[in-house]
Amino acid sequence: MNVFPAEFLWGGAMSNVQAEGGCFADGKGLNVFDTLEVRKEYGQESVDNSDLAANHYFQYEEDISLMKEMSFKALRLSIVWSRIYPTGVEDEPNEPGLAHYEKVIDRLLEAGIEPVVSLVHFDMPDYLSKTYNGFYSKEVVDFYAHHVETVAERFRNKVKYWITYNEMNTATMTHSKLVSGASIPSGISAEEYFRTIVFNTQLAHAKAVAIIKEKAPEAKVSGMINFYQIYPKTLSPKDVLAAAIANDFLCLLTFDIMTQGIYPTYYKEFLSECGLAEDDREGLEIIRRSSEQIDFLSISYYQTCEISGPEIEDPLEFEKSVIFRPQLSMNEHLEKTDWGWSIDPSGFRKVLSTLNQRYHKPIFVVENGIAGDEKPDSRGAIDDDYRIRFYREHIKNMQDAIESDGAEIIGYLAWSPIDFLSSHKEMRKRYGFIYVDSDHYEDHKMKRTPKKSFYWYKRLIESNGASLYEVSE
Ligand code: BG6
Repeated sequence: MNVFPAEFLWGGAMSNVQAEGGCFADGKGLNVFDTLEVRKEYGQESVDNSDLAANHYFQYEEDISLMKEMSFKALRLSIVWSRIYPTGVEDEPNEPGLAHYEKVIDRLLEAGIEPVVSLVHFDMPDYLSKTYNGFYSKEVVDFYAHHVETVAERFRNKVKYWITYNEMNTATMTHSKLVSGASIPSGISAEEYFRTIVFNTQLAHAKAVAIIKEKAPEAKVSGMINFYQIYPKTLSPKDVLAAAIANDFLCLLTFDIMTQGIYPTYYKEFLSECGLAEDDREGLEIIRRSSEQIDFLSISYYQTCEISGPEIEDPLEFEKSVIFRPQLSMNEHLEKTDWGWSIDPSGFRKVLSTLNQRYHKPIFVVENGIAGDEKPDSRGAIDDDYRIRFYREHIKNMQDAIESDGAEIIGYLAWSPIDFLSSHKEMRKRYGFIYVDSDHYEDHKMKRTPKKSFYWYKRLIESNGASLYEVSE
């Protein structure tokens, strides 16, 4: 039986800083992605050029035509903040930046593709990160609200689906400057940093919701997290307890606050045991109000992992260790990607069912995909059967979450339509249905070639999921 409703939003998702290139085009300012340094902890020696990326800024028309050929119903894109406000502090927006996204959105609408817009996705102006320490500062919340106001005003009649903040739960991690624009100031404890980032990002999200709903009452708005379900490494009670704490604090806290509008008891208790006050009342009231206005919850899902509990007796120190220094590892029972990420389709069903049971809200899967280091074969083709397998198994599990667990899912966006830079600026980490030949940049173009998965996904969309059980390899 086909469980996908006719209006199900099949499509793809991208982060524009990772795809566009044109670092200085049309008055754009540098952002945290452009200035990202090499992430040595990932064993990466160098970063690829974000001024070129996949050249999507200049080839967006061709890319959208290919997405149309794949019958996409929706595309998630981000409106790069530093194209609209190059340093973040300007009063007036950069018109050429806005005009560019207007052309992109118009082109999508002409192609029958619903734009799903993210308002911050690794693109905070570098100036705000360096001068104000990103979302550690409340002033940046106001600069962000100014950006949202401008974008929402311009596109309120064209964009229906909005995502306030990409993977907000990972903003609290002390090494994730890309997500928060911030780093931990010296003399500040990990728990104080965590509390400040949680509050400021929730406030930013809440202000964005209020602005969008005021400008476009019919719009559908959501927050977004990266849900990487954490299993206990063994059945030892300390591992089981660590997994419960980690899932709450590292993944679900964001949605708990966003949907309930108050801090959940486990978080209040934690703050009070750490001797930290909750935060300002006025801001909490804005957060409370926005919880009544969000329409759906969106997630990215790539993998699951496992955790070991530390050998610590004191309950508060145990909790802090799990939250700030989690001992995460990959599950030995699962297959891995070329980058060592676990492939766990049934974990996807578990994630969707957990969200459904905990929040009773529509869910939009706005990122799911697999990367490989690919090169065309002698015929110039890319037979990415592993990617087809990955999508088939994940989508079957999503179907089970709908059919057997009662989850309401409104769409599924694959990461990603075209190859582009990874979050650590590696072009060889390819996620696309469309191969981008980044080795040959000629006449200001990079050639696009559909991979085998392009045709598989096209058929899946055109059959509204019914082709899922066909053998296509
Ligand atoms: C998500 C991000 O965390 O994961 C994307 O929203 C990112 O921007 C994706 O690209 C995959 O991660 P990576 O590191 O392989 O690019």
